[in-house]
Amino acid sequence: MPNVKLHVDGEIIEQDVKDGANLVVLAGIKQFPKLKYGCGMGKCTKCTCRVLKGSDELAPPNWKEEKMLGDLTKEHYRLTCQLNIKADIELTQEGIDVKKRKKEAAEAK
Ligand code: FES
Repeated sequence: MPNVKLHVDGEIIEQDVKDGANLVVLAGIKQFPKLKYGCGMGKCTKCTCRVLKGSDELAPPNWKEEKMLGDLTKEHYRLTCQLNIKADIELTQEGIDVKKRKKEAAEAK
C-alpha cells in the first residue's frame, strides 16, 4: 500500500492508501482528512499540491493539469484530484497560491 504524507495547515497527515487511490475521492468520503479540494474534476485548482517526494512515480501531468497549472507542473505542482497514487508520496498544500505563483513565473520569463 502506498504511504501518503500531506503537509497541510501546519500538520503532517500520514496515511496508507490503496494502490491507485485518488485522495480527493477519499477526502470526499471522509477517508483522508484535511485535504483541500473543490470540484474534483480538474477545474478549480483548490486541490493544488506540490509534490515533495515521489514525483517520478506519478503519471505525467494530464491536459487538465497543463491547462490549469501551466509551467508550474515543471515545479512539481499537481492537481491532487487528477492523481492516482501508486507509490509512496509526500505532498504539501502549505502556502499554495496558484494565481500568485503563475504571475511570478510569468514575470521571471
Ligand atoms: S478539486 Fe478542483 S481542480 Fe482538483
